[in-house]
Amino acid sequence: MIWDWLLSPADPARAHDVGVALSWHARTMVLGWGVLAPSAVIAARYFKVLPGQKWPKELDNKTWWRWHWISQSLVLVLSAIGLGLILVSEQNTGAALLHRTFGYSVLVLGLFQALSGLLRGSKGGPTSRAADGSLRGDHYDMTLRRQLFETYHKLLGYIALILMIGAFVSGLWQANAPKWMWIFLSSWWLGLLFVAFVLEKRGWAFDTYQAIWGPDPSHPGNRMTRLKDKVQAPHSSIEPYSKKRDM
Ligand code: HEM
Ligand code: HEM
Repeated sequence: MIWDWLLSPADPARAHDVGVALSWHARTMVLGWGVLAPSAVIAARYFKVLPGQKWPKELDNKTWWRWHWISQSLVLVLSAIGLGLILVSEQNTGAALLHRTFGYSVLVLGLFQALSGLLRGSKGGPTSRAADGSLRGDHYDMTLRRQLFETYHKLLGYIALILMIGAFVSGLWQANAPKWMWIFLSSWWLGLLFVAFVLEKRGWAFDTYQAIWGPDPSHPGNRMTRLKDKVQAPHSSIEPYSKKRDM
């Protein structure tokens, strides 16, 4: 029967003996790193301007931002629970060097990402003026601090997601998980990759600076080489800003 096959462990030579703590280690990690973390990255990359939003008339839609930081904070909470559970699990032999290496690398990167987010500097700009009324802010001025944050936060975030796949594959193997879990998780990640591919092709990846303040060259960040002459119009419903100015 197909059900028996799906429920049987991938390696018939070993038993699938997990116990409560180990099975909840896997569940908390799947929910955190398998579901919430990738969804928070998709929000940060593709939903800074929402479909139907009249950008650049409507600016700074904070949906992506709340989605990103709340989900990523939950990922850290779930990681702490998952780690606590595996540390007390009777099934933890301490011998799975590969999984431990992947696992701890992901957890350290996750912590670093949250810390880097907290240390990204001030915002500034017309909607977050300083006490003296000035527009200055690390993000609005695109200071070196902000530029460095954007570079390493993105780079390390994607590295964490790749290492997370390694942690899952080695974890599933270590626990000798049933075949349905391998099939389900592989399909889920292929699905996410497909979604990212389609949204990328449709131009939904939007620069944070222009999502917040629009493309007007009076904003200092828009005069930098990074964004100069680059006016984004992510969804086909939005008329490119440059055309409007010509009218
Ligand atoms: C990104 C997701 C995951 C992370 C970050 C992670 C993290 C860790 C860490 C840090 C340890 C070592 C704990 C120690 O010091 O003893 C560990 C152990 C373990 N994990 Fe995971 N894990 C993840 C996913 C999974 C999954 C999906 C499974 C199973 C389906 C799994 C099964 C195990 C097992 C069996 C051990 C014990 C290894 C041993 O006997 O040496 N893990 N995990
Ligand atoms: C709770 C703490 C976190 C805060 C405050 C935070 C903050 C941010 C901010 C402000 C951005 C936009 C950066 C830009 O303008 O380019 C961003 C993007 C991003 N974050 Fe986080 N983040 C956090 C946690 C994480 C974690 C744990 C990961 C790990 C997967 C992560 C992965 C990413 C990635 C990959 C992007 C770039 C998406 C793109 O390609 O545009 N973040 N985050």
